[in-house]
Amino acid sequence: MPVLTNPMALELTASSAAAAESFGACEEGYLAFAPDLMERLKEVLTLDPGMPMARILRGYLLLLGRRREYVGAAARVAEALEEERAMLLPREAQHLDALDAWLKGDTEATLARWEEILHECPTDALALKLAHFSYLYAGRARELRDSINRVAYAWNSEQPWYAYFLGMQAFGLEETGEYARAQRLAEEALERNAVEPWAVHAVAHCLEMQDRWEEGRAAIERHRPNWSTCNLANHLAWHSALMCIDAGDERGALSTLDAALARDDADMPPHIVDSVALLQRLELCGVDPGGRWTQLADLSDERDRDHSLVFFDAHYMLAYAAAGREEKARDFLASLEAYSRAVDTANARVARTVGLPLLGGLMDYKLGRFGEAYTKLSPLRYEIVHIGGSHAQRDLFQQVIIDAAARSANSRDALMLLSERTQASPGNALSQVRLADALEECGLVDSAEQARVRAAGLLGS
Ligand SMILES: [Fe+2]
Repeated sequence: MPVLTNPMALELTASSAAAAESFGACEEGYLAFAPDLMERLKEVLTLDPGMPMARILRGYLLLLGRRREYVGAAARVAEALEEERAMLLPREAQHLDALDAWLKGDTEATLARWEEILHECPTDALALKLAHFSYLYAGRARELRDSINRVAYAWNSEQPWYAYFLGMQAFGLEETGEYARAQRLAEEALERNAVEPWAVHAVAHCLEMQDRWEEGRAAIERHRPNWSTCNLANHLAWHSALMCIDAGDERGALSTLDAALARDDADMPPHIVDSVALLQRLELCGVDPGGRWTQLADLSDERDRDHSLVFFDAHYMLAYAAAGREEKARDFLASLEAYSRAVDTANARVARTVGLPLLGGLMDYKLGRFGEAYTKLSPLRYEIVHIGGSHAQRDLFQQVIIDAAARSANSRDALMLLSERTQASPGNALSQVRLADALEECGLVDSAEQARVRAAGLLGS
């Protein structure tokens, strides 16, 4: 088989130049969250059904679907390629090793394989982005940043995918608190390539974390024509909705949620996660959820045996319990426990140490057992990071812990947690309102009034 190259001049086996070119467009589709990614992949596999990198990418994408029913197909991809291992190029064999490790649920080994690829091929954007997401879903923010920075020496503005590199670098910096530099790099990425949704996403995170919601919404909306149909659109709309909540515009956030629930792919795991998180946040603002919890429990119904990530499971649990499906919630918790004991993967270890008390506490919380919920959730405040997701996503659980404290016999704890929260994020009006409520509950009326004045000032009213 001929050896050709991708747009970053990395060698790959392909039957023709047309097939190699088509794979380049497919790889870029993955980097750009292209809505036609699967069509691009089909096109490559039609041109060259045997192309190793295209088949490996198919395996990766199946696993990224985070559904148990896709794992078998990914395993078959790996098995078939194993028989051809002797003919693979070194980089292709390393990607096959990574796919194998991922199929075993071995995050450490999977990341090690991608890092090995990057050691030899620092411009392997596929390995770079897959590792990027794997670090994100492991809650390993410094590695998320460092993995990209380690290969920065090999990237430059002459390269066709440089903007995607900058988008990832920006997000890594954002998750480690370097907001100003992160935003600069994300904006540079967007100047180079306006269709770089991950860079818009990095800007959104930077501004959200600094309570700059007006600028954040403006930035997301300014770029909307370039992301509205991409595979990150639902999540970017979610970020815009978070900023609606920050600004006191719950109706705006609710309409975004309803649009997400009306999507044909509303049952995709990341979409369920975002919708659950948004509804929970809105409920914390006093919004009536209507029948949406039932809708979300239905969408999550078949996800109860995936256990692909504790981060996802925590959101499914919120949906089951909020919809009043206590038996389902209990079965789900029992299933997570059985899974956590049956396998020894990174996710199973997180399930054992953090997942079980977290899901148990969330179940209690949604079933109105606030004291029990607070007892289970409170010790996890500094452990939740291990379930992964971004800081902005995981903040949901901190909000739930505070609410569980406020609604049980722990009003002083709620006050202290809100004191901590408002000191860490003094520009957040919602936290000031909640602080005022907690101060009032503890009889500190004058301080409560001052907090309400601060909140009104932040909202410009
Ligand atoms: Fe995000």
